[in-house]
Amino acid sequence: AAVSRIRNFSIIAHIDHGKSTLADRLLQSTGTVSDREMKEQFLDSMDLERERGITIKLQAARMNYVSEDGETYVLNLIDTPGHVDFSYEVSRSLAACEGALLVVDASQGVEAQTLANVYLALEHDLEIIPVLNKIDLPGAEPERVKREIEDIIGLDCSNAILASAKEGLGIPEILESIVHLVPSPEDTIEKPLRALIFDSYYDPYRGVIVYFRVMDGQLNKGDRVKLMASGKEYDIDELGVLSPTQVVVDSLHAGEVGYLSASIKAVEDARVGDTITLAKGSAPSPLPGYTEIKPMVFCGLFPSDSEQFEDLREALDKLRLNDAALQYEPETSSAMGFGFRCGFLGLLHMEIVQERLEREYNLDLITTAPSVIYRVTKLDGEVVLIDNPSNLPDPQNRERIEEPYVQVDMIVPEEFVGPLMELSQTRRGDFKDMKYLAQGRTTLTYELPLAEVVSDFFDQMKSRSRGYASMEYQLIGYRENPLVKLDILINGDPVDPLATIVHRDKAYYVGKALVERLKELIPRHQFKIPVQASIGSRVVASEHIPALRKDVLAKCYGGDISRKKKLLQKQAKGKKRLKAIGTVDVPQEAFMAVLKLQ
Ligand code: GTP
Repeated sequence: AAVSRIRNFSIIAHIDHGKSTLADRLLQSTGTVSDREMKEQFLDSMDLERERGITIKLQAARMNYVSEDGETYVLNLIDTPGHVDFSYEVSRSLAACEGALLVVDASQGVEAQTLANVYLALEHDLEIIPVLNKIDLPGAEPERVKREIEDIIGLDCSNAILASAKEGLGIPEILESIVHLVPSPEDTIEKPLRALIFDSYYDPYRGVIVYFRVMDGQLNKGDRVKLMASGKEYDIDELGVLSPTQVVVDSLHAGEVGYLSASIKAVEDARVGDTITLAKGSAPSPLPGYTEIKPMVFCGLFPSDSEQFEDLREALDKLRLNDAALQYEPETSSAMGFGFRCGFLGLLHMEIVQERLEREYNLDLITTAPSVIYRVTKLDGEVVLIDNPSNLPDPQNRERIEEPYVQVDMIVPEEFVGPLMELSQTRRGDFKDMKYLAQGRTTLTYELPLAEVVSDFFDQMKSRSRGYASMEYQLIGYRENPLVKLDILINGDPVDPLATIVHRDKAYYVGKALVERLKELIPRHQFKIPVQASIGSRVVASEHIPALRKDVLAKCYGGDISRKKKLLQKQAKGKKRLKAIGTVDVPQEAFMAVLKLQ
């Protein structure tokens, strides 16, 4: 297609505001997929999901659209993941576009996540087209939401499109606006090749499939390409476009969006944000914005059954082929045996990986509470990064500890401002800003330690605002704080995966609440079990789990504990989620208890 007839755009929306429904409508309305195919394709992907246990999602789609001016345009829709954990990927997808549809639910309004992505889009100079969706709903208030968008984002909404993706209203207007408002790509076909990778996935048969936007130059089937960040070279096996299924083409030029395969073995060799150029006649410099993504949250993963250690390693190796952000290294714990210390982009990323390991690889895992990375300066001046609280150097050997801080932006209905300020305060937050927006909604900005956010801050925010508040955060740097390590001893032995790093002023409270909680969570045994919290050698809280009484035991277990245990294990379908630490069985919930103390 001629560069002047190409339009590259993405859709920015908060969860549930209708992004997928609208994308489907655009595909149907341009005849890219028929109504029948839409259903079949959906079913197909469900089958595949069931068979191979993978989720197939639309990443990009090329549509041919005949405009009212009679010309045929190529519209490339590039999808963006909608979660804060993946904001780097979002920024790369937006960098591949010239415009974006801003979809806002007309019965709701602007949410924090939407804002964050709009600001990213504005940074990339994208043309933003506001679309008020769900106007079919009786509660839709398009005028109010328009004012909100104008007030908060400063975006002119006089030409905002009123739409219902569900009923198919406003779809022709949206397509025309994309053609007329989104700029065409620059015609830089004569320059050396530079293509931006905005996504990639691992295919067991063809190796990594790379999704890219050609920014400059031209790419042909059979070309030998170089990935500028990794420095590696490959011969292209297959080149194509996504319409939305993969369709092979011979060449792609500046402005176009497509995919390639080149026997690339793992996604880490073709990372999001890397620049593809030609091996011969390379571009002098890569496209801006490539960053090596660094995990922010760490936890330990241990098989309940130590015999599953090698299975866990294999599963992680396989997942990593498809997930360049996942990090792991073997960890040995005195209490837990062999496992892995794993790094994730954030909590959602962590949950996805855990879930896949258990569901797709049928592993029975114990997960320890998430930790952030602490920066510790030792007395001799050496700086070490600590992603595992049990490795914190002794107080006698450290000069200072710094912890990561994030700026948290919340959008909150007025009546919940109080409860959320209180929440932020108890989480060691520094108040930064509060602004009243249209119609009783307020933005609230705090700076908080990341450690306080990765515990259940999000859940607390939702429950204290009855689900109405939304939030977004970004890393702002490290700050020094008086932090201490709190150890937990069960039956007199320190249990390293229960160790946690807390602020000195909160240590006593956390220690007390934690041992009380552990007392509830750890089942009674035939003997009395002391549970203690200590800082260094000083015990700050202590409880004990009473022994089962003989007669109770008889009633419960019919006299045969091991038989009953076997039965229970069977009932749990092999997932016991219990770890024997010495002679004490500790359930999974105990390892997460520190997160839920309020
Ligand atoms: P995520 O995939 O979770 O990010 O959500 P999404 O933004 O893609 O939203 P999705 O398209 O899945 O729509 C969310 C819900 O809103 C679904 O139940 C849709 O059927 C519904 N929905 C989408 N558009 C409309 C609309 O125009 N009107 C009404 N009434 N419902 C809609």
